[in-house]
Amino acid sequence: MHDQITPYQSDATKKEQVRNMFDNIAPKYDLLNRMLSLGIDQYWRRSALKKLRQYQPGHVLDVACGTGDFSIAALKYGVHEVTAVDLSAEMLSKGRVKVHSKGLESKIKMVQGDSEALAFPDDTFDAATVAFGVRNFEHLEAGLRDIRRVLKPGAPLLILEFSRPKVFPVKQLFQFYFRTICPLVGRLVSGDGKAYTYLYESVQAFPERELMADILQQQGYRSVQWRTYTFGICALYIGEK
Ligand SMILES: C[S@@+](CC[C@H](N)C(=O)[O-])C[C@H]1O[C@@H](n2cnc3c(N)ncnc32)[C@H](O)[C@@H]1O
Repeated sequence: MHDQITPYQSDATKKEQVRNMFDNIAPKYDLLNRMLSLGIDQYWRRSALKKLRQYQPGHVLDVACGTGDFSIAALKYGVHEVTAVDLSAEMLSKGRVKVHSKGLESKIKMVQGDSEALAFPDDTFDAATVAFGVRNFEHLEAGLRDIRRVLKPGAPLLILEFSRPKVFPVKQLFQFYFRTICPLVGRLVSGDGKAYTYLYESVQAFPERELMADILQQQGYRSVQWRTYTFGICALYIGEK
């Protein structure tokens, strides 16, 4: 069901639509992220990356890296080197400017690629991360499998993704904010009226909590754990190869 939710409901595949959408909104992506999450996404990212420390991963694969925020932040948590992959050339181009301005070119390599067909040998990386990316995969399971393939045995995959708050009144307030305010602000700032409606719809349809943990287990991940942040607006999942 979730993979039927697309940004533009056109004849193009979900992958093509997602790539076009992120190419369109790339110039305003970072600004909208900070505005719409009121900066809370930075706390989710930091908290998630703290969990990487125990694995002391030297080389991390950041899948669906977008403009590189997660890749850049990972370097503060003991990571030496990041290979960052994304479908969208425009998101990567924004990311490269950021990486360059911080003098991090020797530590972060940004390459265009698809999570479902990663161009790396088996057992390459010490850890993998996907922040707010798995919901956009055309085939979630295929993406999770290919990420597992390129991880070294025992290496963790860490996923941050939106989830759905369950408790009154956060559930109702969040629904209103996400369904009405975000698309409005998103349209005004990015000029893409559909992108932030897709954000709401894709979050509603996407597997979360126990269901997402089960999917990770089915794709071969072990010791799967999850937790939510901020009344259940966001979830962190960790599984090991
Ligand atoms: C919401 S952005 C997240 C970007 C970044 N990780 C962050 O935390 O800000 C989702 C990204 O997933 C990328 N994406 C979607 N499907 C993908 C796929 N199959 N392979 C690689 N990247 C993909 C999009 O191009 C987009 O840049």
